[in-house]
Amino acid sequence: KITDSLLKIPFACEKIEIIQPIQRHAFAYATIAKKDCFNIAILDTSGNVCVKFHQLTIKPVPDLLDDFFYTVRWKPYSLESANMTAREVMPRNVLIVLSEEAKSLGKILSGFHEKDHIWKCYLGTENKILSEKNYTIDTNSKESFDIIFNKLKAIDIIYFLGGYHELIVEKPWIVQTQENQEKGVLCLFRLVKTLIEKQLIDHTIQLVVFTREGQPFKNKTINPFSSSLYGFCQSLRKEHNKLDFYCLDLHNGETDSQKLMDVLTVFIRNKKENTFCEMIIDSDTCYIKSINRLQLKPSGISKFRNKGVYLILGGAGGIGLALSRYLSEKYQANLILIGRSELNDQKRLAIEKIESLGGKVKYICADARNLASMKSAVDQAKETFKQIHGVFHSAIVLKDQTIRNMNENTFCE
Ligand SMILES: NC(=O)c1ccc[n+]([C@@H]2O[C@H](COP(=O)([O-])OP(=O)(O)OC[C@H]3O[C@@H](n4cnc5c(N)ncnc54)[C@H](OP(=O)(O)O)[C@@H]3O)[C@@H](O)[C@H]2O)c1
Repeated sequence: KITDSLLKIPFACEKIEIIQPIQRHAFAYATIAKKDCFNIAILDTSGNVCVKFHQLTIKPVPDLLDDFFYTVRWKPYSLESANMTAREVMPRNVLIVLSEEAKSLGKILSGFHEKDHIWKCYLGTENKILSEKNYTIDTNSKESFDIIFNKLKAIDIIYFLGGYHELIVEKPWIVQTQENQEKGVLCLFRLVKTLIEKQLIDHTIQLVVFTREGQPFKNKTINPFSSSLYGFCQSLRKEHNKLDFYCLDLHNGETDSQKLMDVLTVFIRNKKENTFCEMIIDSDTCYIKSINRLQLKPSGISKFRNKGVYLILGGAGGIGLALSRYLSEKYQANLILIGRSELNDQKRLAIEKIESLGGKVKYICADARNLASMKSAVDQAKETFKQIHGVFHSAIVLKDQTIRNMNENTFCE
């Protein structure tokens, strides 16, 4: 007797007795042993027992969507309840990596560490020793951090400000891409590679990565150069768990220096254990990132249009093709699939399959790293289908490797 609506399937059986083979037509006779547990006999058409299942237990099939969706929440963190008295510690070696655009934040950090040994590394265009503890490094060079770590043999705290900008730069953001990626995520990669090479990474180091408006928060436009640092930071912390790691994203204009000092006192001076923590300081509130389960039930209302036009970057890859088949079958969609490689037989076959489901496909050979190539692809798409209703980013170059084993070319790809 089924008492609830959950689908239940066999999970375990105490004993199975096979008396004779089961015939093509058979009957099952089930008696309840206890809740969700049955004794079952399989009989042939004359009533002879063929197989007996003793104590066959069934279990509900979990609702897969219950533990499927997660979302980010920013929880306010009360600094008032935290211990704000800085512990007295021996002077430590502090390295601040910064660009021209982050000078005033650099000043606040220097003030906070006035009793420590501060080394500064400016991100510039040449390798130069400015004074005993002040250096400029060439952000175009792979060996840029060698100049510092040849002198600095032990390090306790590193502040990385390469993805942080104080100035509102007038140029459109896309024009600044290369320069900013180089000062940001690429410089952090090089810094980490140098720490690995010099065997410093597996000692306890506090690493603080500052960004500006890189985290999606309160529906503000994000700064993509800052955002590009977080994925790398998460991998880094997983691979080097001795790092005591903070990503601090500053929002809302001028940084309140007292608030920042309070945060640093709580997390940097009084830290208790190795951690990875993403934070936002917005006006006078500090938020900490948490990942929460999200209950999303199928709504029955689709955002896709029938015969809509959808552009899929990386569309001829595994996920892109699966999505294309779905959109073609359900919505007879017009699809623009973009990839760097030329059409080949395998892709042609995949496209034929998609079109056989009802939709139309245009494959365009273009590279997402190249603005002109992307503009031309969008123009071609519009020429063919007149408009674009939606865009998916499904491009990736997956070369699974640890940061320790990855070279810079692979990282950039
Ligand atoms: N597969 C999974 O199980 C899975 C699970 C979760 C999430 N994902 C995510 O889904 C996305 C797609 O994954 P996938 O498994 O479909 O990968 P995939 O099979 O390797 O497809 C990625 C496609 O991106 C294209 N591509 C790479 N760089 C490009 C560039 N610069 N410009 C234009 N196209 C470019 C590649 O084609 P060309 O080489 O011709 O350019 C390739 O066909 C990724 O973000 C991945 O993390 C995948």
